[in-house]
Amino acid sequence: MAETRQRDASRVSQSLDDIRQASEALLAEGAADPGSVWRSPALVTAGADGAPQARTVVLRRFEAGERFLEVHADARSAKIGELATRPDAGLHGWDAARQVQLRLTGRASLHRTGPVADAAWAALRPQSRATYDVLPGPGTVIASPERTSHVGEEARGAFCVIRLAYTTLEYLHLGKDGHRRARFTWSGGALVSDWLVP
Ligand SMILES: Cc1cc2nc3c(=O)[nH]c(=O)nc-3n(C[C@H](O)[C@H](O)[C@H](O)COP(=O)(O)O)c2cc1C
Repeated sequence: MAETRQRDASRVSQSLDDIRQASEALLAEGAADPGSVWRSPALVTAGADGAPQARTVVLRRFEAGERFLEVHADARSAKIGELATRPDAGLHGWDAARQVQLRLTGRASLHRTGPVADAAWAALRPQSRATYDVLPGPGTVIASPERTSHVGEEARGAFCVIRLAYTTLEYLHLGKDGHRRARFTWSGGALVSDWLVP
């Protein structure tokens, strides 16, 4: 399976449509397979001072048909405040085995309550839920690494789903016989597919 996808994602004779579908398959693999390199892309936001902020996240869900992906975060973390102020966000991943880079951009919505958050929380394993069971919140300066204390039932209140509705997906493949770069842009429901100079 992995070898088939590897061939598909790096075949130089692919059409733009093939490339889009292969890119979507990589992201779907990341959401489904904890061992996939696409499991841990970088989420990029605009920091409070406007400077870019990138951090590794776990890709929890990917829906190609609806063009969104989801990651989970602590609602007290800096990225949530950044996205609340400016919802423009990006996702970046590099697959060295397949020699494929993907870059996505779009707008993020934050879900602390409601059906999106409830469904994600219900599906989380206890050890993942425990990540949110901590005081004070992530990023707080502490006197020593052992200073954080657990708070039990507070964890659900700190849980937040970030849903990135992406409007651009850019693919770059580094091939022995030439590089390939393609960009897919959705605007008003219409898809524009372009080859770009790598
Ligand atoms: C492999 C890996 C996976 C991670 N997954 C997540 C994640 O899914 N959600 C998250 O909020 N932070 C995750 N982190 C931690 C973030 O990279 C980051 O350090 C933290 O969220 C604080 O970021 P912020 O201060 O920009 O909000 C992960 C880190 C690593 C190394």
